[in-house]
Amino acid sequence: MSNNSKSISVVILAAGQGTRMKSTTPKVLHEISGKSMLFHAIDAAQEISDDITVVLYHQAERIQKEIDARYEGIVYHLQDAEKFPGTGGAMKGVTSKNSQTLILNGDMPLITKDSLSALTSGNADINMSVIKLEDPSGYGRVIIENEQVKEIVEQKDCNEAQLLTKTVNAGIYSVNSELLASYIPQLSNDNAQSEYYLTDIVKMAVDEGKTVTPIYVEEEEFKGVNSKLDLAQAEEIMQRRIKTEWMKAGVSMRLPETIYIDSSATFEGECILENGVSIQGASRIIASHIKTHSIVEDSYIENSDVGPMGRIRPNSKLINTHIGNFVEVKKSTLTGVKAGHLAYIGDASIDEGSNIGAGVITCNYDGKNKYQTIIGKNVFVGSDTQLIAPLTIADDVIVAAGSTITKDVEQGALVLSRTPQKSIKNFFYKFFGKV
Ligand code: UD1
Ligand code: CA
Repeated sequence: MSNNSKSISVVILAAGQGTRMKSTTPKVLHEISGKSMLFHAIDAAQEISDDITVVLYHQAERIQKEIDARYEGIVYHLQDAEKFPGTGGAMKGVTSKNSQTLILNGDMPLITKDSLSALTSGNADINMSVIKLEDPSGYGRVIIENEQVKEIVEQKDCNEAQLLTKTVNAGIYSVNSELLASYIPQLSNDNAQSEYYLTDIVKMAVDEGKTVTPIYVEEEEFKGVNSKLDLAQAEEIMQRRIKTEWMKAGVSMRLPETIYIDSSATFEGECILENGVSIQGASRIIASHIKTHSIVEDSYIENSDVGPMGRIRPNSKLINTHIGNFVEVKKSTLTGVKAGHLAYIGDASIDEGSNIGAGVITCNYDGKNKYQTIIGKNVFVGSDTQLIAPLTIADDVIVAAGSTITKDVEQGALVLSRTPQKSIKNFFYKFFGKV
């Protein structure tokens, strides 16, 4: 936390319905790089403040439940959105512990600690974020004279001249808490949307001779996400950021624009990601090579190689292991294993020196429950074998290709279950006649 962390309260507005998103999921729970927009905002807020209030209304319970699962000490405020709709209505009844209050929208996943700090510096009565845009549509227009903000006019309330204004309101304000407390009750809903606009506090402050300073910011950090199109654009920006950081940290990426990396994934040592790779969830990759079009989800991979076209599903752990093409691994631990081609390894643990042949399947599910397959060291599992779990195969075992293994196998054995091969002489000619 920065040294001013004690003097700033943060209010995150997240009560809106997000109609333009056209979704049953609340807008602020839509994810960018594997983390909901609201959590991106809360994470940035936590870096500068110890007093964070989230304003909720639409699907409040659902959102609160998700916040509670991840954070402690967040204050909730339920907006009376029937009586007081709008961003100003959202602030009614919110109290700040600290002398300065930073207000942000929950639909701004690209903000960073640094950009928020810039907004809380200086001693103006209000600092507000302003973006210069060639296409200002959708945003409130900011009327600036002599480097001071005079007014914010919402698009729907603009006259023709105001519509042309290219300085727009990014939607983040740092306000003296006492002023805020006196202005919020005075807001009216006398406007095109019959809503209580938070933006009207600017005019009130100006009328009282207070200073309202525009802080110019980049759209890349303050983009408001209102639609699925905005969501996709914000995702691109976030992905570029995440990948730039990891490449700086030493991760090699072939055609990085084709690679996806979750915001909570981490890399250590020398890692190589080929084109089309997707690293999802809180995956941890150490000194490994993930080849073209492989997917890794919430897994730990150390000193291993995966793919091309490998799929490592959640809770897998690969150490010193080779996973080849079309191999799917789920909730399994493989140490020093080779599984080169076309296999399904689920709910398994496989030890050093073991080889899994092409077409091997752990039959881990009987339609009701899931069962474990335990394979020891130096086990050679021949191709096209079905391992019917629960099953334990001890060390130094050879499983003959094409077997269906239903019972545990003891150390050192050769195990096979095949129908003996039969050959009937000249059957072809009898059946089809002589050719
Ligand atoms: C708002 C600003 C606009 C600015 C834009 C930046 C107002 C009146 N307008 O417009 O000047 O350019 O943000 O992105 O503030 N919310 C509530 N309760 C409500 C309504 C909204 O909590 O009753 C929350 C939403 O969940 C959202 C945020 O406030 O997180 C902004 O709401 P939104 O409807 O997106 O505002 P804009 O119309 O984009
Ligand atoms: Ca918005």
